[in-house]
Amino acid sequence: MSYDRSVSAPEHELGPETVWHLQMPQIRFGRDAVEELGFQLADLGVDSDDDPHGLLVTDEGLVEVGHVDRVTDHIADAGYDVTVWDGAEREPSIENVDSCLEFVRENEGEDGYDFYVGFGGGSCIDVAKATRAIVANGGQVLDYVAEPTGEGEALTESGPPLVLMPTTAGTGAEISPVAIFSVEEKEIKEGISSNHIRADAAVLDPTFTTTLPPDITGKTAMDALGHAIEGYTTHPFDGLLRASDPQARPVYAGRTELTEMFSEKAIELLSGNVRTAVHNGDDLEARSAMLKGALFGAIAGLTAGASLAHAMAYPVGNRYHTYHGETIAVLTPASTLGYNAASDPERFVRVAEMLGADTGGLSTRDAADRARQEYVRLQQDLNVIPSGLTELADITEGDVDWLARQTVETQQRLLRCNPRPVTEDDAKAIFRDALHNWE
Ligand SMILES: [Fe+2]
Repeated sequence: MSYDRSVSAPEHELGPETVWHLQMPQIRFGRDAVEELGFQLADLGVDSDDDPHGLLVTDEGLVEVGHVDRVTDHIADAGYDVTVWDGAEREPSIENVDSCLEFVRENEGEDGYDFYVGFGGGSCIDVAKATRAIVANGGQVLDYVAEPTGEGEALTESGPPLVLMPTTAGTGAEISPVAIFSVEEKEIKEGISSNHIRADAAVLDPTFTTTLPPDITGKTAMDALGHAIEGYTTHPFDGLLRASDPQARPVYAGRTELTEMFSEKAIELLSGNVRTAVHNGDDLEARSAMLKGALFGAIAGLTAGASLAHAMAYPVGNRYHTYHGETIAVLTPASTLGYNAASDPERFVRVAEMLGADTGGLSTRDAADRARQEYVRLQQDLNVIPSGLTELADITEGDVDWLARQTVETQQRLLRCNPRPVTEDDAKAIFRDALHNWE
């Protein structure tokens, strides 16, 4: 079977892609980087002489532990007025964004605030991203969600400055051009994907991550490691077909030498520090390495493109309401590191070695399989990762057909770049393999 790797070009123009492109927000990283938040806003053109009024989007938990006060104090010290909206929910729904939009319009009218700060895990960040963009473009969330769920309108405006501050080391939402929401009545997730939704700056301060409990630390780390490994092993950019114009080039555009560099460093940082971060959460050095590793994994994976584990994770998350990170964790051994290893064994030998495996004396194909074994051992060492889909959400053999069909029917955006073709039968076998990663 062959893949249709076409993006948008008419047939007579088809040829391999020759150009790659990297677009990122400004990135400010390090211990106490929060102290530079005022400077960051000023640098984006927020002028304290204009009496600017901003909105900080977050959740109640972060207010309770005092992190939000620390952020708003720095904003106030810089001479800016800021209001806190702490209603972001885990795996946010479209209604959740609507309530933030309503809050903005009630308080500041149609023009909204002068700047936005998203502070928290991927959920808070996605609500902040969507709110800023939709206020600037008008209308409601569903206007910009793809058809048939929404109207599929394109965003044309970015809006006033948006700064994102992640408090977990995982999703990469602070740099990505996507915001993802659940549509409750349909048991699906929908995203808004546009460069207008990307933030202007990301401020990453590891001191906010030391309060993350071990299980969230471990699960978000598996998402980050998934971005790094999937990005490292996805199709190369010049193996995809050329876009007919730069505007039509897909967001996930294949791996390049640049994304590979970020993947390699991310795999090393994440796999080398996650045990310490989970078992000794106060270790700021390990926390800092994790936050940096998650950032690098996102730069790689969310540019090159996540692939098979992410494609399979969406139907699971939609139906069983599992956390994204733990879903990626249980699917990765059978998919990215199992099924996909046949696509380029030498590349997977490198992954095995980066994860710490000793591959001396093994054939290339056997050494490639060591990536999966080493990754499973890492998960077992953490004590917080389910042993497979069955432990995750009581998923059994009888659920496999539905999950495989959903993956192939709804996730072609991700499967398009997978380094090995995936039929529905292949997906069934991989889901079956992922029921139990260990006993
Ligand atoms: Fe992810």
